[in-house]
Amino acid sequence: MRTQVCIIGGGPSGLLLSQLLHLAGIDSVILERHTRDHVLSRIRAGVLEWGTVEMLEKAQAARRLHEEGFPHDGVLLSAQNRAFRIDFKALTGKRIMVYGQTEVTQDLYDARDAAGGTIVHEAQGVALHGLDGDAPHVTYVKDGTEHRVDCDFIAGCDGYHGVSRASIPEGKIRQFERIYPFGWLGVLSRTPPVSDELIYANHPRGFALCSMRNENLSRYYIQVPVDDPIGKWTDTAFWDELRRRLPNEAAERMATGASIEKAIVPLRSFVAEPMRHGRLFLVGDAAHIVPPTGAKGLNLAASDVHYLHEALVAHYGGDRLALDHYSPRALARIWQAIRFSWWMTTTLHRFPDQGEFAQRIQESELAHLANSATAQTEFAENYTGLPY
Ligand code: APR
Ligand code: PHB
Repeated sequence: MRTQVCIIGGGPSGLLLSQLLHLAGIDSVILERHTRDHVLSRIRAGVLEWGTVEMLEKAQAARRLHEEGFPHDGVLLSAQNRAFRIDFKALTGKRIMVYGQTEVTQDLYDARDAAGGTIVHEAQGVALHGLDGDAPHVTYVKDGTEHRVDCDFIAGCDGYHGVSRASIPEGKIRQFERIYPFGWLGVLSRTPPVSDELIYANHPRGFALCSMRNENLSRYYIQVPVDDPIGKWTDTAFWDELRRRLPNEAAERMATGASIEKAIVPLRSFVAEPMRHGRLFLVGDAAHIVPPTGAKGLNLAASDVHYLHEALVAHYGGDRLALDHYSPRALARIWQAIRFSWWMTTTLHRFPDQGEFAQRIQESELAHLANSATAQTEFAENYTGLPY
């Protein structure tokens, strides 16, 4: 097989890149390790920056998003069981869209299918070759047969555990990492969301978050030790703990029910620099991870795709230097999101060695945010997404 861009990974990054390249007349092939059903069974975050919404519009994959998504003009933060609101619309003129990442992925698959895009599922043993030269290629095994894709460029869209970043020789890449000493226990339940807007809560017992998917599907999280056995968290134990950490009025009206999904995830910040090695470009989770606290993971993948697809279009249009700008441009925006999600994580969670002093500092940080229009504007700018 021969293509212009061989894309490793059929998650949101790879699908969005493939679709935008197609609309610009650039050919690509996606190699995905898992089945489509497996990819679509992963439950991920659900907050889109408006820039991400516009990317999906550009990709002609935003029809259902506009029908079924929920635009939000603000968010609630809470400390000491009392909430205050940050009004994005009033402060920055911007809003966010609540729409599950699984749905985004489904819509992108539909768009690729409608355009006749090539996605090879269950591609095993993907290996990258000739990254330093002018004619890279990728090999993989499907149904016991080895296949080869010759291409101009490779886009590593294969997530944190993928083969792309691992194919860059040691010494050619720097990695920055922070692992947070706690996890999030996430629950999905068929209950009406407790609030019309998201609630991020700081509490001496630990962080809590109320989110949603639709009028009858709630997504809640509480901070827990990352090695807690999941069996310890019965539904009753979860709801009791969640209520303790929320603003009082939210705790009182919380509708509870059976969980339909329950899992504990670790929190980390990670960046690999540069995001290019020869003819390989890293995109999305392959190059960086953020803790979910700022809801930036998918949104950063979208901004990487923005920069890379523009650079590829410019390259094929004759601008031979365009691709050199990809990594520095993407990284500048990524570090802003790394900083913001680190700040939200640090301000809202209880750390294991945190004493009363640190708790008071967090509470005064949040009190400042509650009372200062300047601080709220800064928060709103970051949460709704910095410009591309
Ligand atoms: N060969 C082929 N495909 C692979 C390989 C491999 N060696 N390794 C991983 N993959 C596939 C995975 O199965 C997955 O479907 O690459 C895809 C990567 O998808 P994601 O992990 O979702 O990453 P990405 O597309 O960058 O999506 C952005 O940001 O913070 C997150 O939750 C957010 O998942 C979202 C991500
Ligand atoms: C979610 O809806 O799953 C969600 C929302 C906001 C976050 C993280 C997760 O910061």
